[in-house]
Amino acid sequence: MKTSHTLGVIALLSATLLLSHGNVTPQPVDTKGLAPLGKDWLEKNPYVGNETAIEIGKHAYAENCARCHGLDVVSGGVAPDLRYLDPGVEGDAWFMERIRGGAVRNGNVYMPKFEGIINQEAMWAIRAYLFSVKIDH
Ligand code: HEC
Repeated sequence: MKTSHTLGVIALLSATLLLSHGNVTPQPVDTKGLAPLGKDWLEKNPYVGNETAIEIGKHAYAENCARCHGLDVVSGGVAPDLRYLDPGVEGDAWFMERIRGGAVRNGNVYMPKFEGIINQEAMWAIRAYLFSVKIDH
């Protein structure tokens, strides 16, 4: 009993350490000015090319994603370079899966989950921003 308890504490500690490099916890995002999307999760980005969304997404990215995925979406190698995400609906789906659920393997948090912290509008705004800086495929 004692051993498994200790192991649990170690796992918790290392997850916290992974999360804390760069000392930023997920930040809520103000999505005022964007058309509300309702409760159901959309499959396709409704904000492609929407200037307000791109602007909101840019700030949200800088606050929540840049420390791992790189300033201005140029990855320094810590996490995947998001300019290379598939630009179509498949990319939309993968983006949503990751941003909502994060990336956890063997109990290690590689990327925190954002569902419950930022709303769907903020998530698609970030995707609209990423799309606006994407490189040619
Ligand atoms: C603590 C670091 C960290 C933060 C903060 C973070 N990510 Fe990640 N992200 C990662 C890592 C590491 C991976 C790769 C996970 C893996 O290898 O399974 C990843 C994977 C992804 C992927 C999948 C990329 C691919 O090519 O498969 C997407 C999309 C993504 N992140 C988006 C975001 C967005 C958007 C934000 C901000 C809202 C964000 N991430 C914040 C570390 C982070």
